[in-house]
Amino acid sequence: MTRRERLLVVAALGLVGIAGAVFLTGRGGPGSAASIGIDSGRTAQIDAFAAAYPVSTEASGVVREFDLVAAPSTHRLTDGLEIEVWAYNGTVPGPELRVELGDTVVVNLDNQLPQATTIHWHGVRVPNAMDGVPGVNQAPIASGESFRYEFTPTDAGTFWFHPHNRGSEQIERGLYGSIVVVDPNEPEYDHDLVWMIDDWLLDRDGSLNETFNAMHDVTHNGRWGNLVTVNGTVAPDVPIRPGDRVRIRMINAANARVVAPVFDGVTPIGIAVDGMLAREPFNAQGFELAPGNRLDVEFVMPDEAVSVAENFNGEGYQIATLTPDQTATSGEPSASMASPANPALPASAVFAGFGVDHEYSLDFTSSMMSAEWGFNGEPFDTTDTLTVDGGGVYTFRLRNDSQALHPIHFHGQFFMVTGIDDQPVDEGYLRDTVLVYPGQTIDIALRATDAGLWAVHCHIQEHAEAGMMTLLEVT
Ligand code: C2O
Ligand code: CU
Repeated sequence: MTRRERLLVVAALGLVGIAGAVFLTGRGGPGSAASIGIDSGRTAQIDAFAAAYPVSTEASGVVREFDLVAAPSTHRLTDGLEIEVWAYNGTVPGPELRVELGDTVVVNLDNQLPQATTIHWHGVRVPNAMDGVPGVNQAPIASGESFRYEFTPTDAGTFWFHPHNRGSEQIERGLYGSIVVVDPNEPEYDHDLVWMIDDWLLDRDGSLNETFNAMHDVTHNGRWGNLVTVNGTVAPDVPIRPGDRVRIRMINAANARVVAPVFDGVTPIGIAVDGMLAREPFNAQGFELAPGNRLDVEFVMPDEAVSVAENFNGEGYQIATLTPDQTATSGEPSASMASPANPALPASAVFAGFGVDHEYSLDFTSSMMSAEWGFNGEPFDTTDTLTVDGGGVYTFRLRNDSQALHPIHFHGQFFMVTGIDDQPVDEGYLRDTVLVYPGQTIDIALRATDAGLWAVHCHIQEHAEAGMMTLLEVT
């Protein structure tokens, strides 16, 4: 029995809600699993990394409880264009879950979809059993069933949530939302906006194309739509008072499209990537957000309109506008406050000389005819688990041996890019997802903080669905 078949049996038996450990007993394919221990020669570097963000965050005792119903709905993309979607609480994106650092988040998910689902809290460091990967962290939540997620986010920042079951269909149909964890010590903005960027593949009659995992998409760069939206709307217009300080938390929720927002009228200052504060603010004009990535920018609203265009392919089509409006806020503009930063983030050069602890080749599997993607030639069902000791810093080489893009996402951990094609790189921020171009080799240093069995996969949903996933176990 493959893992998928085992899961179906488990789901059919209705064992929903039993702790993840039960499902792990049947885990493991052919081949031996590798493991890496902590290298005592790296103590200084480990300490440097550890200074940049906490291992854990204590719960303050405040509990924020949210009810989410995942169900079919309709959604208006723009005037005269309404489509059938699947949505959380009837809206695309789903509700923004905004909490403070230290709050405990409880989410009661009611699955009213015609198929099983789960929620993954992308980038939020949660207890392993709350991470939402079916067959790894929990059983799929069957249609008509519910599940209670509970966790205290460890880090402040911009995160998001989406299904981790049949993501190529469920995310594409509109199931996603943001979770923003606010650090009360960070400056407040006059406008703190979340922009969830997505694209939709519509048929000529304006309905959502329902051929998910089309062979062409699977074997190329995934499903790229023909209509881009910000927060579910085509080219929204946001009124902002000139002089106001604006923070925009951009999240790429698309199945496959890479977006590179270009601001006309202001320079967007990048302050955080994938939720975590950068060492220092940087010019984020044209920053590439692969599926899964986040980018927080800030700026002071000028007197003239700011238009934002998506420019990854050099097409430069407008996705949003900020329009000056004197009435858009009240009170004194907070424009003079300092930008948040994380000066403790070590320079990537401190990891030079580590060598490569583990290499992942990203490619089709050997049975290419069946259009399976994998890590090191193995699709997910048979892939080996790599085990590392918690508390260590490990180096991985992501080598793209294919002709397709692969944004690789590590669950539960943050990492730093240390090299691209053998040239040292210091991006000055952490990531949980990095885009690897065809033929490219990216080296990363990853700090393994949270114990458990974590998914590592390509965030192009069609690639993940076709097997491009493996597991990292942190002991
Ligand atoms: Cu947003 Cu496993 O992914
Ligand atoms: Cu991929």
